[in-house]
Amino acid sequence: MASFHFGWMVLTWTIIGHPDYIQGQSAVITGPVIGILTQEVDSDLISVPTGAISFHLISYVKWLQTQNATIVPIRINQTDSYYTTIFNSINGLVIPGGSASIRSSGYSKAGSILYNLAITANSNGDFFPIWGTCLGFQLLLYLSAGKKSYLASFPAQKKALPLNFSPGASTSRLYQNAPLDVMDLLASNQSTPNYHNYGISPQNLTLSGLDKFYTNLATSIDDNGSTFVASIEAKSYPIWGSQFHPEATSSWPAAVKPGLYFAEFFVNQSRKNQHRFTLEASYVLTNLTSAVYQGPGKPSAFFFN
Ligand SMILES: *[C@@H]1O[C@H](CO)[C@@H](O)[C@H](O)[C@H]1NC(C)=O
Ligand SMILES: *[C@@H]1O[C@H](CO)[C@@H](O)[C@H](O)[C@H]1NC(C)=O
Ligand SMILES: *[C@@H]1O[C@H](CO)[C@@H](O)[C@H](O)[C@H]1NC(C)=O
Ligand SMILES: *[C@@H]1O[C@H](CO)[C@@H](O)[C@H](O)[C@H]1NC(C)=O
Ligand SMILES: *[C@@H]1O[C@H](CO)[C@@H](O)[C@H](O)[C@H]1NC(C)=O
Ligand SMILES: *[C@@H]1O[C@H](CO)[C@@H](O)[C@H](O)[C@H]1NC(C)=O
Ligand SMILES: *[C@@H]1O[C@H](CO)[C@@H](O)[C@H](O)[C@H]1NC(C)=O
Repeated sequence: MASFHFGWMVLTWTIIGHPDYIQGQSAVITGPVIGILTQEVDSDLISVPTGAISFHLISYVKWLQTQNATIVPIRINQTDSYYTTIFNSINGLVIPGGSASIRSSGYSKAGSILYNLAITANSNGDFFPIWGTCLGFQLLLYLSAGKKSYLASFPAQKKALPLNFSPGASTSRLYQNAPLDVMDLLASNQSTPNYHNYGISPQNLTLSGLDKFYTNLATSIDDNGSTFVASIEAKSYPIWGSQFHPEATSSWPAAVKPGLYFAEFFVNQSRKNQHRFTLEASYVLTNLTSAVYQGPGKPSAFFFN
């Protein structure tokens, strides 16, 4: 089986016909290959193509493309061998936000398989980074707690919040080398976009024992004045999670620089992984739709069967 390391590699046989997808880089692997987990189509989507069962928003693609990453969508409800093939072909995984169940959806099942592959790989010296955003952050917590949820109600809808950094932030991989202007925006401005009803309290991170696996890097305050964990880093693994959306910066000027910083940090981590994108994995690039418009002010979505 032929295999390719990323570089300027032409993959014309797979992506032609989907110009909206890996736009401007459609035939070329330009950098680390990052998988974006899809999830069940949900009622918040305004327009869903016939036959589509899963989707992810274009905003995650754009976010990672700022760092020249190449994107591979990861479909739900596939075989174990599909996930193993993809895992061995990508350099990092992003688990997006949304509204699927963290317990029983195809998103949760696929996320669990990929998470276990990543834990095993990292334990064996195969550096493989994961970033979970919002629901993806919650899925990481659920999986790391042995499939137990310690979430509670923490509503923060459509608002960008500052971070209150925890003592662990200054020595964390995520923040210790961050530019001062980014740290200032994060600490003082409306810089982290939040769209959630649930979250985890600092108390529950400790009570659950999850504080042995993750460092609490920062918290924010929800609509009711309650404190929730906003940013985590696994102590012994290249795994990061944010309750906020670093990719959703369009409405908040102070969120743009931090959002780019998080993308740069995560894509940099992915550059350390040595997996090679193979011909075998190229089939995942089939069955894409074009980006489907979801209404004013909302990111378009890509759909999959
Ligand atoms: C992305 O690719 C462009 C074009 O080659 C290059 O100028 C830019 O420095 C690259 N950016 C990163 C973050 O790799
Ligand atoms: C996908 O898998 C989930 C979880 O097993 C299941 O609930 C759902 O019905 C499946 N969806 C399809 C379209 O098969
Ligand atoms: C801790 O988690 C449990 C289980 O999800 C939840 O019922 C409880 O409200 C949480 N407590 C706090 C302080 O968040
Ligand atoms: C938060 O506030 C909303 C509306 O103000 C209320 O309906 C909800 O019960 C509150 N939730 C908590 C956990 O306090
Ligand atoms: C960040 O907040 C400071 C102080 O309120 C303000 O002067 C500055 O313009 C804000 N920056 C951005 C990018 O919004
Ligand atoms: C990403 O890697 C580049 C090249 O090594 C480095 O200059 C940059 O500081 C790194 N950025 C982050 C956020 O890690
Ligand atoms: C693409 O979709 C067609 C029609 O639904 C299906 O027959 C085919 O197996 C799909 N290809 C992949 C790679 O899933």
